[in-house]
Amino acid sequence: MDFKKYIRDVEDFPKKGIVFKDITPLLQNNLAIKAVSQELLESIGDQEVNKVVGMESRGFFFAPWLATRLNAGFVPVRKAGKLPFNKISESYALEYGEDTLEMHADGILKGEKVVIHDDVLATGGTASAVCRLVEKLGGEIVQCNFLIELDFLKGREQLEEYNVRSLLHY
Ligand code: PRP
Ligand code: MG
Repeated sequence: MDFKKYIRDVEDFPKKGIVFKDITPLLQNNLAIKAVSQELLESIGDQEVNKVVGMESRGFFFAPWLATRLNAGFVPVRKAGKLPFNKISESYALEYGEDTLEMHADGILKGEKVVIHDDVLATGGTASAVCRLVEKLGGEIVQCNFLIELDFLKGREQLEEYNVRSLLHY
């Protein structure tokens, strides 16, 4: 299926000069969401996975579904101040300033095999911060899984040591 026809370019969002990849047309089409979920699952293959980590907000669209299909648990990574229990945090650089991501300290057990999933790999700042969170807790990252990769932003270079898979490239 040609998924790209379900992804809408929105110019100047969230800021002037940025072309936003809007996946809501894909999400609202039953055949497209089914097919894309299946392809994401197939890109993980039959390796053992104990946890799927998804990052707020757009990583939440597919990560829990992937977890149930892989017989794994789902662990949310949230922006600072949203999680209620004991947590660990990692900061990452934005264009101006920085942001912080958090995960519950009991989200991953030492030695667990982990897939991280997000909708978009852009500069790689978000995903590499999530990898650091998982590894702080002793998790082993078996794949970094994305729906879309913006190749020209070279996020993959920040994830050199990992198995990175993206369904669509721009
Ligand atoms: C977007 C996107 C990825 C991240 C990728 O999330 O959903 O999570 O940016 O960018 P990076 O590779 O340069 O770090 P955003 O922070 O806009 O928040 P959202 O998912 O809550 O919309
Ligand atoms: Mg996001």
